[in-house]
Amino acid sequence: MGIQFEINRKDLRQSRWKQTSSKILQEGDIEIAIDKFGFTANNITYANLGDSFGYWNFFPAEESPDIWGIIPTWGFGTVIESVNSGIQKGERFYGYFPTASHLILKPGKVRPTGFSDIVEHRVKLPTAYNFYYNLSKDDFYSKESEDYQAIFRPLFTTSFLLDEYLIDNNLFGAKDVLITSASSKTAIALAFLMKERREKENLSFKIHALTSVRNLDWVQSLGYYDTVRLYDQISSLEKSDICVVDFSGNEKVQRENKDYFGSFHKHLCLVGIVHWEDQAENPDTSGGVLFFAPTQIKKKSKEWGLANFQEKLLNSFQKFFISSKPWLKINQSEMKSSIENVYLETLEGKISAEMGPILINS
Ligand SMILES: NC(=O)c1ccc[n+]([C@@H]2O[C@H](COP(=O)([O-])OP(=O)(O)OC[C@H]3O[C@@H](n4cnc5c(N)ncnc54)[C@H](OP(=O)(O)O)[C@@H]3O)[C@@H](O)[C@H]2O)c1
Repeated sequence: MGIQFEINRKDLRQSRWKQTSSKILQEGDIEIAIDKFGFTANNITYANLGDSFGYWNFFPAEESPDIWGIIPTWGFGTVIESVNSGIQKGERFYGYFPTASHLILKPGKVRPTGFSDIVEHRVKLPTAYNFYYNLSKDDFYSKESEDYQAIFRPLFTTSFLLDEYLIDNNLFGAKDVLITSASSKTAIALAFLMKERREKENLSFKIHALTSVRNLDWVQSLGYYDTVRLYDQISSLEKSDICVVDFSGNEKVQRENKDYFGSFHKHLCLVGIVHWEDQAENPDTSGGVLFFAPTQIKKKSKEWGLANFQEKLLNSFQKFFISSKPWLKINQSEMKSSIENVYLETLEGKISAEMGPILINS
């Protein structure tokens, strides 16, 4: 018997708890008790894109799945039952989990490093979301950085790929970069990586940031951006050929940036929609180009080889871990009693930018 937290797919402010019934595992299956997961605006975006990008299809609700959806998260779980000869009870994994207490998985080929869930409804979904890393062989894993990883591993991976993508494309002909919703963790990690690259490779681009009033001083204090401005202070930025990396998804912000920079506006890279209530009805009208991390993972793994890709990512991740330790505030709470609150506060943008909420199943 377990529990899961479900969201009304048509009204994200409505949620419900469901008890889940015990199930008999099929040959090859394992059951995982979900230990903990991180929760940020990225998970809200999964809900926003639940229909269009298929995020509701990872963990369909048992009852009325067309009305109720389960948000995917990144976290850790422990095997509590196994009818799979390659996986033992007690083994722990990092991967994609529902906002729930338990999950049954159907591992494909089991390697020392982990396995992919090959349950029918997941096989057509991007492979990056289906792999579960065995912690005993996971180079990223350390006990002390567990909470940090639950927050940052998926976000930093995106930033890492995005930095490569922007440089591979010569900033799309721009001289400088402007990052919106600059207080979001994925944006911060991108600024960290770009600044580091600029120093190492002796490059000259500037990294500008746009954020809201409540985050302005804090974003400035991080020291990753060259210039930090409020959304309505765009005209105080010097006009130069600009590549806008947009985490806001805010139609008005996108338009104002375009209007202000005019012919200097070289590219709009669409990464996030944290301002989800201000997004365009049809994102295609923005003239931007969508960045989707799973597509880039495939591309870079092919280009560099998987082992090399993982090594580069890990080295970079470890540097960012050290850099972000002084400002990231992990706050753990018990899932059953807190997820509704954490969920609603994240949905409404009320969680302070420096917070890293972790939900734990006790
Ligand atoms: N394309 C991809 O493959 C990919 C991969 C990973 C992440 N992403 C996206 O990147 C975005 C950032 O995710 P994250 O987890 O890094 O975010 P986060 O750290 O939780 O972001 C918090 C910030 O987002 C803004 N915000 C959040 N909710 C808001 C609301 N309801 N109203 C107004 N502002 C709100 C605020 O920034 P400001 O005040 O600075 O605006 C806030 O400080 C998400 O949309 C995520 O899905 C995309």
